Amino acid sequence: MKQKIKIALIGAGNIGGTIALLAGVKELGDVVLVDVAEGLAKGKALDLSHAAAALGSSTAYAGSTDYSAIQDADVCIVTAGVARRPGMSRDDLLSTNAEIMRSVAQGIKHYAPASFVIVVSNPLDIMAAFCQRLSGLPPEKVIGMAGVLDSARYRSFLADECGVSPSSIQALVLGGHGDEMLPLRSCTTINGAPVSLFIADARLDAIETRVRNAGAEVVALLRSGSAYYSPAASALEMAESYLKDSKKLLACSAFLRGEYGVHNLYAGVPVIIGNAGVERIVELKLTSEEQAAFSQSIRHIKELWEKVSLAC
Ligand code: APR
Repeated sequence: MKQKIKIALIGAGNIGGTIALLAGVKELGDVVLVDVAEGLAKGKALDLSHAAAALGSSTAYAGSTDYSAIQDADVCIVTAGVARRPGMSRDDLLSTNAEIMRSVAQGIKHYAPASFVIVVSNPLDIMAAFCQRLSGLPPEKVIGMAGVLDSARYRSFLADECGVSPSSIQALVLGGHGDEMLPLRSCTTINGAPVSLFIADARLDAIETRVRNAGAEVVALLRSGSAYYSPAASALEMAESYLKDSKKLLACSAFLRGEYGVHNLYAGVPVIIGNAGVERIVELKLTSEEQAAFSQSIRHIKELWEKVSLAC
């Protein structure tokens, strides 16, 4: 009999806890939470078990401080790390989260080397690269969650602007998960019709600026911690595409071997996720303006990566 799917959540804070709840609602598999904070993962697992009973979900939950709990997981979602505080950029988290990623990657390498790993910790593109390098897993099995979230934010703002359902909007946000991310206007449609037929360019410029700052907008309002419902929902969409072999085309931070002219770097591009992990990186033809903005975003990732890669 096939074993039940096992989803390991490394980091049981705001995002990890929310992913755990959503995974149970969708009954994607059993969930184990791991967190260094004594009692946190166990406490959340207990609470979530009770929520599963209330929801009529068959998902079983467990929590631990020990990485051995992730043994043979099918999917590992990494949210371990510190979150931003008001006034901080994602890049400000670099040194703290890189140290944390070191132990996370060792844990994955030892206990779940066959898993599909989704990194959520920031600065995202760097943490995904760091996790892949240190765990030694194939790049196809380590991916970063950013573009799904940034695209969801873009779709949400466009939906409000046009008075249509976000589900009728298709959008992709590429590049790094930072201030230089690139909402791809040329690929943004409302049920197939170009978005520029609905919204004037100047207004689209303002919406795209808001997308780039949406994470900071949430941080400023929350005053402690950063966004967690939307990152959780986004990471789960990626996990689901892997587990169900849905082959969804999603914007994710993936390892580039020459695609888009970028070598040996993680950056946000459209990928197809199926049961082999990243099954294909889709190369879109960018306009010259988009290509320039993409290259600028890549330069920024490269600079950050050069700072930490020596420590790998
Ligand atoms: N192993 C496991 N868990 C760890 C480790 C570690 N080595 N180090 C820290 N943690 C845990 C913390 O104890 C904390 O519970 O990671 C958890 C992070 O949770 P939150 O502080 O609530 O942060 P969250 O909002 O979930 O964001 C996590 O995702 O989007 C990014 O920028 C965000 O880097 C941040 C990460």
